[in-house]
Amino acid sequence: MIKKFIFGTPFETEAITGGGEIPAVRLEENPGGIPYFSAAVKEDGVTLTRLMDEGERIYGLGENIRGINKRGWIYESDCTDDPIHTEGRRELYAAHNFFLTEGRERFGVFVDAPQKVTFDLGYGDRDQMKVTVSAGGFALYLLEGDSMRQIVREFRRAIGRSYIPPKWAFGYGQSRWGYECEADIREVVRRHREEGVPLDSVYLDIDYMERYKDFTVDQEKFPDFPGFVREMRQQKIHLVPIIDAGVKIEEGYPVYEKGVENGYFCKKEDGREFVCGVWPGRVHLPDVLNEKARAWFGQNYKILLDQGIDGFWNDMNEPALFYGEDYLEEVFEKLADYGRQELDIKSFFGMKNLVLGVANRKEDYQSFYHESRDGRVRHDQVHNLYGYHMTRAAGEAFDSIKPDQRILLFSRASYVGMHRYGGVWTGDNSSWWSHLLMNLQMMAGLNMCGFLYTGADLGGFGADATEDLLLRWLELGIFTPLMRNHSAKGTRRQEFYQFGHPEDFRNILGLRYGFLPYLYSEFVKAAMTDDMMFLPLSFVYPEDEAAAEVEDQMMVGESMMIAPVYRQNARGRYVYLPEEMKLYRFRSLTSADQELLGAGHHYVKAELSEVLIFVRPDHIVPMSEGGCSVEDIDASRLNLLHFVRTEGTYELYDDDGYRKDVDLESGLTVITVKADGTVSVSGAGRPECRLR
Ligand code: GLC
Repeated sequence: MIKKFIFGTPFETEAITGGGEIPAVRLEENPGGIPYFSAAVKEDGVTLTRLMDEGERIYGLGENIRGINKRGWIYESDCTDDPIHTEGRRELYAAHNFFLTEGRERFGVFVDAPQKVTFDLGYGDRDQMKVTVSAGGFALYLLEGDSMRQIVREFRRAIGRSYIPPKWAFGYGQSRWGYECEADIREVVRRHREEGVPLDSVYLDIDYMERYKDFTVDQEKFPDFPGFVREMRQQKIHLVPIIDAGVKIEEGYPVYEKGVENGYFCKKEDGREFVCGVWPGRVHLPDVLNEKARAWFGQNYKILLDQGIDGFWNDMNEPALFYGEDYLEEVFEKLADYGRQELDIKSFFGMKNLVLGVANRKEDYQSFYHESRDGRVRHDQVHNLYGYHMTRAAGEAFDSIKPDQRILLFSRASYVGMHRYGGVWTGDNSSWWSHLLMNLQMMAGLNMCGFLYTGADLGGFGADATEDLLLRWLELGIFTPLMRNHSAKGTRRQEFYQFGHPEDFRNILGLRYGFLPYLYSEFVKAAMTDDMMFLPLSFVYPEDEAAAEVEDQMMVGESMMIAPVYRQNARGRYVYLPEEMKLYRFRSLTSADQELLGAGHHYVKAELSEVLIFVRPDHIVPMSEGGCSVEDIDASRLNLLHFVRTEGTYELYDDDGYRKDVDLESGLTVITVKADGTVSVSGAGRPECRLR
């Protein structure tokens, strides 16, 4: 059951597809009419308040810091480019305004507001929930259902089907800000292939471009780009270039010139283009909220598609501003003043903050406009939609340019609705153990908000990774749909071959390719049925009080639970089992031991390169025999992890990995295992199945 309330004139975000059909109550006319909350309308926004009960738990809010249960902190939806994701932060790159609460009452909340929204979930007062939408209109959706999972499904149905990438995008990707040229990339591929470490993609960060200009390729570094893309494809490697939001201001650069000619960039109040700074220097921002501009920006991806590219990552689309040009001038004037002074406690910090405050400045976001379908709108009023609509530009263009082929696409900034066009990666994390855990904890919230194709920079983006951190992180990463090792320029390099034990990496990454049939199947089924692939234990075992407290384990699909090790020097960990499960402890794809564990708390051993899988009773996990790339996986021979007491059935989905018109029914193979060990297979494929 969905109820809709509106306040003022909400901007149409198109997060909800077909939302017009849900009857709406106007908040102004009936402020007392919102169930669960009391509403206070002030000039600077609307605040919804409610008293929480003691044991109430809150799930959701997508990409955000802190735990699976979000209670006890204040979160802001205000897409921000800031790479320091510490415990004290309130906002990251995304605005995923959906959460649900489970206590004496159970309901879901979606705040459809493209401006800043604050979720105080027991921060100001530990018993109070306060949702504040800053000035401007918004729509509020309240959802009810018999279970948390059902509420999520209902929400997901309302926001439309999640993006499904090509199958190869479930393979391992190696990335690094700093790969400059063909030779750098060949080296990455050679080392993986030589050591038998699987690899499906290499990412091209900003250095592939000519002076950081979108949709260009530096001719000196890549003299024959289409030829190079082909060469990589022969080695079963997909190259995935980055596209940034800002378009360089440069005479003779067609993207810039076309954009200006047609008025497709964001403008200031006086009608002139807004100028800000990002990697290339001075740039304009494409007005992706303007339908025509969006269509035009999207068609530019064709330049790279035509050269054989079949995947992209969209970046800096909060949008990130190093500086706004007008303000920068003021700053330089003030700095000149400081230069004439003796800097003391006040002036020194004044100067420092002046410089630090140049980036992503609130006033700059208030100084430019979009030409949306609903007319002219100031950027800060719709700030959280920018990354969404940039990615939508690409997604819509792919539908027209490549109607029959899935293209890989994911973004840094996002809003609910973008999940129909692409996935997200969780931005510039750090090589910290705490971020490994955070990666796990974010997965469920992201799934709730529709983002199924998602993952973190494995090994950590900022700071220096150690071998053990990378191994442990990959042991989680082999389950996340997007599985990419990425790191920042200036940090310690973290390709597997920078460390001393290639066999450990080969074994762990090999497992990903083993689990791939299951992961792909669970992913597509979750997308097609508006379900989650990563579930907190409490979603599957709602009656279990101890399960509700588990913050470091996750259900992955219907058959298994994972419990990654996320502490340095640990050689095992405590796990909680809500029911009896079978533990498979993998040392490699071909070597694992098994153990039955009863419900309750256990200490389980996990040496540095061992991966733990817990299979649920009467469930099956089909595994392939692996491969060095996704296309090498032999889907006709499967080994079944199984824990069958009476009978276990698994419906395995598979397809060619490219078709856009996914049809669940026609791709299902039904695998049944009986307690006596008999296996039967029916349906689409007829893989040869062996028990493991
Ligand atoms: C941003 C991205 C990061 C990328 C860097 C250079 O920080 O988040 O992934 O490597 O820009 O393009």
